[in-house]
Amino acid sequence: MTKYKVLLSRPDITDKEIKAVQEVLKTSSLSLGKKYLEFEKIMAKFAGVKYAIVVNSGTSGLHLIIRALGIKEGDEVITTPFSFIASSNCILFEKAKPVFVDIDEKTFNIDVKKIEEKITKNTKAILAVDVFSQPADWQELRKIAKKHKLFLIEDSAEALGSEYDGKKCGSFGEAAVFAFYPNKQITTGEGGIILTNNKKIAEFCKSSANQGRRVLNGQWLEHIRLGYNYRLDELSCALGITQIKRIKEILKKRIKVANLYNKKLKNIKEIEIPYIKPGNKLSWFVYVVKLSEKFSGKKKDSIIREMAKRGVQCGKYFQTIHLQPFYKKEFGYKEGNFPIAENISKRTLALPFYNDLSEKEIDFVVNNLKEIIRSIK
Ligand SMILES: Cc1ncc(COP(=O)(O)O)c(C=O)c1O
Repeated sequence: MTKYKVLLSRPDITDKEIKAVQEVLKTSSLSLGKKYLEFEKIMAKFAGVKYAIVVNSGTSGLHLIIRALGIKEGDEVITTPFSFIASSNCILFEKAKPVFVDIDEKTFNIDVKKIEEKITKNTKAILAVDVFSQPADWQELRKIAKKHKLFLIEDSAEALGSEYDGKKCGSFGEAAVFAFYPNKQITTGEGGIILTNNKKIAEFCKSSANQGRRVLNGQWLEHIRLGYNYRLDELSCALGITQIKRIKEILKKRIKVANLYNKKLKNIKEIEIPYIKPGNKLSWFVYVVKLSEKFSGKKKDSIIREMAKRGVQCGKYFQTIHLQPFYKKEFGYKEGNFPIAENISKRTLALPFYNDLSEKEIDFVVNNLKEIIRSIK
């Protein structure tokens, strides 16, 4: 295994987090105690919504939202091919059909201009993703959803803390999720949360995440619907509470690292630094650059391999969903179906990015990248 000098991502765990988890371990309440309720309350307030339901992953959260909206076999959900696979798989879990729409080449988010041509009588929802923490075009998405009477779902797994027109991501559409895997802005190890202003969705999700139990005054062994064990334990919730309480400091650190990268990369003509759409504020999930056409595909792969040899871990965010082996086999997708997403996917390169990445480490990454690019010329 490669021993990296600079990792692609790293969680920011301080003594505060360690203490918070240890405190829970000293109690007899390791699940369904007070911490998950406290975490839900803080997260609802943070996102500016009425209800938050903590779950054991972002994927579980998306799955429950699909179920809560009654999306089922024969239904279609419009979404993006340029995302993490879970944002499309959650539709398949309920045997509905993801209908992909190509992306905007600047924001990498679903291209709102191309949505209406994909709407059919079977379309039930639009599931948009705030990819790489760049908010999607929510104003336009809302207009389209309203006009065609569609549900709007926000996959904000990567955008905790991002803002669109001064409003926090996670607050658009019928329901949204944040995810807390260790590469995210805040982590609970594994974990996620559903955010909504809709009481019915909230109750459905809360019950479904807990084996279908009745939410209020429920008997422990009284199950009123098909449910799952998507609960998040108290240790993870304590970790999440401590992390979200540090969010201002965390976002400040991420902006600082992103700005340093921007400064050091902006004059390299083979590299485009991340675009920020006017009106958007990014919480910087990752730092992804776009290589010029000349370095796309196999050349990019060789850059990643060479960076790894020199101790720098880079990421291939994202491989398009429709060209994943399972999707190709199951649905017959092929190269050329979504040309913009495919082109972006061949050119995007995620550089090491985490809160405490030092300027020295950034220089190491940037200098190696420059050297490798020049050697390929
Ligand atoms: C856009 C997007 N959606 C969904 C998920 C799924 O979250 P999780 O890994 O917590 O299941 C992720 C996670 O990386 C993601 O990036």
